[in-house]
Formats: sequence, structure tokens, C-alpha cells
Amino acid sequence: MQITAPSRAQARRHAAFVALLAALAGLMFGLDVGVISGAQQFIQREFAVSDRVLETIVSSMMLGATIGAAGAGWLSGHFGRKRSLLFSAALFVLGSLACAASWSPDSLIAARIVLGLAIGVAAFTAPLYLAEIASEDRRGAMISTYQLMITIGIFVAFLSDLAFSYTQSWRWMLGIIAVPGALFLLGVLGLPESPRWLVLRGRHDDASAVLHRLRGDDALARREVADIEAQLRTPQQGLRLFLQNRNFRRSVALGVLLQVVQQMTGINVVMYYAPRIFADMGYATSASLWFTAIVGLTNVLATFIAIGFVDRIGRKPILYAGFVVMALGLGVVGTLMHMGMGSHAERLLAVTMLLVFVVGFAFSAGPLVWTLCSEIQPLKGRDFGIGVSTVTNWVGTFIVGFTFLTLLNHFGHANTFWLYAAFNAVFILFTWTLVPETKGVSLEHIERNLFDGKPLRNLGT
Ligand code: BGC
Repeated sequence: MQITAPSRAQARRHAAFVALLAALAGLMFGLDVGVISGAQQFIQREFAVSDRVLETIVSSMMLGATIGAAGAGWLSGHFGRKRSLLFSAALFVLGSLACAASWSPDSLIAARIVLGLAIGVAAFTAPLYLAEIASEDRRGAMISTYQLMITIGIFVAFLSDLAFSYTQSWRWMLGIIAVPGALFLLGVLGLPESPRWLVLRGRHDDASAVLHRLRGDDALARREVADIEAQLRTPQQGLRLFLQNRNFRRSVALGVLLQVVQQMTGINVVMYYAPRIFADMGYATSASLWFTAIVGLTNVLATFIAIGFVDRIGRKPILYAGFVVMALGLGVVGTLMHMGMGSHAERLLAVTMLLVFVVGFAFSAGPLVWTLCSEIQPLKGRDFGIGVSTVTNWVGTFIVGFTFLTLLNHFGHANTFWLYAAFNAVFILFTWTLVPETKGVSLEHIERNLFDGKPLRNLGT
């Protein structure tokens, strides 16, 4: 069949559309993370549930996401990236509608597990798809765009919660997400399959056709297919390599630790429970939802700092700075909680320090942990290594979400915030002893160092 060549401009538009759609998966992810924070006080009132049950409602989504992320590797390998994204988009719509229609705490928990499955699958498949369709010089930018979309999604959800709070309609808060979900579903229908997956399946002509449309250049498309074929000569060994090779076990362990650290900073205490924290500081519902929206905006804006500086300053200095800022922010919040926050000034200072904490996270551990996790794994174990660390991210989120209110109720606000501040202080030491500096180092060089048995912190030297 003769394919008429698309012009370069057409190809660029097509590639931009594809990237935008895949990044929309990031937006969906963020929307679903953010939406529960503003809804929970109304849910708690209507269903008259304890903090323990509320914690379960909040964190059931993360349980679903853990399962989704664990199964996404198989799903996207077996059925392809596009069908995995379609599956996840359909679950987004279904899960959101089911949340809005839930008639009991149990049915809400079940609906949030479905929603979690959608996020778990999307969170694994979308970055993979983006990396596979992006041209070499755009790859970094595409992955950071995806990160940014997550934070924008969280912010938009906070805003939407704020709007619906005036009518106290938590069902609308949870249900409205079906609309972007449906748009996402329609958009995914128009996406091409990933060229790398097509080559994996032996469909070389289809892969060429997709790349031809994306790049607008036949020679370029053919070269990329050849590159993919060459790359695929290194088969993914995942679990076997893990069992056989001590050095690979070290990089997998580092990926796991990085994600544990990211979650133990306490970021999701704020992302999932901010309105509750502000209410406990003494603010009324409306004020606490306004502050939550500001938290969301701060999270978006500070992510730009990371995007601008990671490749200039390097990973480690940014991580040190982030942990110091986070320890300080939460430490002061804990101290103010301990003092009782009697005055208006003290309450405002507590809000400000919580924002400082969010800034500290968003410019450091937020994006950087994901970057590092994808950089430290050797090529033949990359899918497995990244899969394991992504699942760990969700297990960590689940543990944090499932314990926060219990911690507050058993140990008090001050001790809980001090605990997280102390974690962040310890992570300065973690960065110093275990984290490698990977700025400007090729992935091949990191891999060679890993297999030579160099200490983890020296992988980039
Ligand atoms: C984390 C999420 C968190 C989000 C907040 C991500 O890097 O993995 O758990 O909710 O940042 O922006």
C-alpha cells in the first residue's frame, strides 16, 4: 500500500495530539488523587462513620491502584498499551459514577477500589507509552509534562471540591470526574498503538506506519524501527535477573527505598487530608477548602522549579534542600500544634509552614524520585525494576493514607507532624549514603557501574 507522506507540520500536530492525550492520563490521575480530600467531611457527615472507616474509604483507592499497577505490566504487554489505556479510561468513568451513586460506606469503598485500579493501570501505562512514542530529544520533556499534569489534576480537583462545597454535594465532587474520564476515553480511541509494542509483536510494518505518521519522515521512521529492533535484542529478564544477580537486586532495592522515602515524607497526608488538617487547626469548612486549593496551586508552581533545575544543579543538592525544607516545615507545624494555636497569627503561620513543606516536596522528592527510579535500572531489567518501584509507591501511599487519622487520634497532632519531620531529617542521611548523582551521566555508564559492583551512591561517578 502506498502511504502518502504527511507534511512535517502535520506530523508535529499529530505527535502533539498524541502526547497531549497521554498526558491527560496524568490529569486523570491527579483528579482522582485530589478529589477525596474536599469530599470526606461531607461523606463522614452523611454516612456517620468513624475516622477509622473514613481512612478506609480514602485509602481503598490506593489499594486498588496497587493491584492495578501490579497487573499493568502484564496487561500492557499482552494486550498492548492502547488497549490498557482504554481499559483504564473505561474504569475511570465507571468508578467515578459508582462513587457518586454509592449508597453505603461499603459500596463507596468498592467503587474507590475500581477507581484505584484505573489509576494503577494508567500510572504505569501512560509514562511507558509516552516514552515509547516520544522522539529522543523530547523524551525528558514529555515525562516531566506528565508529572506536571498530575499536580494540575490535583489542583483542579481541589478547586472543583471548593465549588461544590457550597452546596455540600460530595456526590457531584466524585461524579463530575466521569466527564474528563469520558473525554479521555474518546481520545484514547484515536491514539496509535506504541511502535515499540508493535515491533515486540513482530508487526514491523504497522510500527513503521505509526512512526511515519508521528515523525513525517520515512527515512527517520525506518531508522527508529531499526533502533527499536536493536534494543529489543536485549530481552527483558526481570524476575530471573533479580533472582540471579546481586547487583540488580541492589538497584531494585534502591528503587523501592526511594519510593518508600517519597511516601514517608508525608506528602500524601497533605494531598488527601489537607481540609481536615486545616479544620483541626481551627478553620471553618470554607476557609479550609480555600487553603487546600492554595496547597494545590503551590504544588503545581513548585514543580516548575524542579523542571528548570534538575539537569542544571543535579539530583542530590535538590534532594538535600527538599528534605531540609520539608523537615523544617513539618517541624514548625508540629510545634505550633503543640502550643495549641491560640492566636490568629499562629494559625496563619501553621498554614504557611504547611505550604513551605509542599514547596519542599514539589521541587525535590516529588519529581526526582520518579526520575531516579527510571535512571538506575539496567536495560534488561528496566521494566521489572520500574514496575516494582511503582507498586511500592502505591503501597506506601496506602500505608500513609490508612494510618494518618489513627495516628492523629492516638498520638496527637504535634507528635504526628514531628514524626514526619523526623523522617525527613533522616532522609538527608539516606540521600548522602545511598543516592547516586545521575545528572549528565549516560544510562549505560550507570549500568556498567552497577554491574561492576560499585556502591550505590557512586553509580554516577
Ligand atoms: C507522588 C504522589 C503524590 C504526588 C503529589 C507524586 O510524585 O508519587 O504520591 O500524590 O506526587 O504531587
